[in-house]
Amino acid sequence: MNNRIFLSPPHMGGNEQTYINEAFQSNYIAPLGHNVDLFEQQIKDFTGAKYALALTSGTAAIHLALRVLGIKDGDEVMASTFTFIGSVAPILYERCVPFFIDSDTSSWNLDPDLLEEELAKRYAKGKKQPKALILTHLYGQSAHILRIKAICEQYGVHLIEDAAESLGATMAGKHTGTFGKMGIYSFNGNKIITTSGGGVLVSNDERLIAHARHLSTQARDAASHYEHTEYGYNYRMSNIIAGIGRGQMEVLSDRVKRRKEIFDLYVHELSTVPEIVFMPEIENSSGNRWLTTLLLPKHVSVETLRLSLEEHNIESRPLWKPMHAQPLFSNANGCINGISDNFFAQGICLPSGSSLRNEEVTRVASLIKQTLSLP
Ligand SMILES: Cc1ncc(COP(=O)(O)O)c(C=O)c1O
Repeated sequence: MNNRIFLSPPHMGGNEQTYINEAFQSNYIAPLGHNVDLFEQQIKDFTGAKYALALTSGTAAIHLALRVLGIKDGDEVMASTFTFIGSVAPILYERCVPFFIDSDTSSWNLDPDLLEEELAKRYAKGKKQPKALILTHLYGQSAHILRIKAICEQYGVHLIEDAAESLGATMAGKHTGTFGKMGIYSFNGNKIITTSGGGVLVSNDERLIAHARHLSTQARDAASHYEHTEYGYNYRMSNIIAGIGRGQMEVLSDRVKRRKEIFDLYVHELSTVPEIVFMPEIENSSGNRWLTTLLLPKHVSVETLRLSLEEHNIESRPLWKPMHAQPLFSNANGCINGISDNFFAQGICLPSGSSLRNEEVTRVASLIKQTLSLP
């Protein structure tokens, strides 16, 4: 049996261990320390965000975004339905009400027309607008962020960008995650770079990040006995973890380049199967191609292909099941057009790790062709 080909395994750059050792040598195992400061600086330098806060996860970053924007208790929050649960679970943490917006076929991400129609309709009827929109740039590809930002501004809706999967992706030369009021990145184990688990919250608003920083370490007011006027969380990234982040940031551009090469190779190898549709890249944007994702022709089910790759010890995964179709959200409202349901029914994520060799990509592609040609 060949070695297992994973969907998106960690790919270390080489210096991570050195930075972890620095933390050990200085005994800044905790709390915080040099690695955390430098990791946050690298994120700011890379993305252009003015302020950055390193946290335990991307989900924690979204939760803090809601907290510092004052969104809670029955407030309505709109969100992309085609996303991962971590984007929207914080809506429930804050006892808010989700409202899901479906995708379009041009970006596979949130459809700006649906958003605009819904907000305009509410405005015309004098109805309440949502407090925020959590917009996901899925699989590393930019959403129609310029239009979405303009719509949010027009109707006074806070824009929170979930760029968990899209670190390194840009629109009009600007990094995804830096358009909204706040943005988040994830460094979970399978992301384009990883800290084994972690997240970062970014914003150009100093006050918001300062408040999030306060909440992320149990909201301790300045007093030696720890005074508390509000409650916080234990969400701060450790100095050890940030050492991995420092090393990973050094190789981020290489990782983006390699993921794009892998995508191009899949496209090339599968060009003889015209019914396959790859996730698009919208005009003026540059995705990071975190995962190569595609829609299969109708005659082959995602599960058939997944199992046939699995027989060869190759990991693949269906596209995310949309949030509006999750039992957890069976009572939620939204603007649903069937597009993300179709993505879920026909779509698959292929192994895309930056350490994949070209021969491995070619082998996966030829197994796909074999499976598709079965009666
Ligand atoms: C789109 C999306 N949003 C949010 C998250 C949550 O990030 P984390 O796992 O770091 O909490 C993830 C990934 O895990 C994700 O893929």
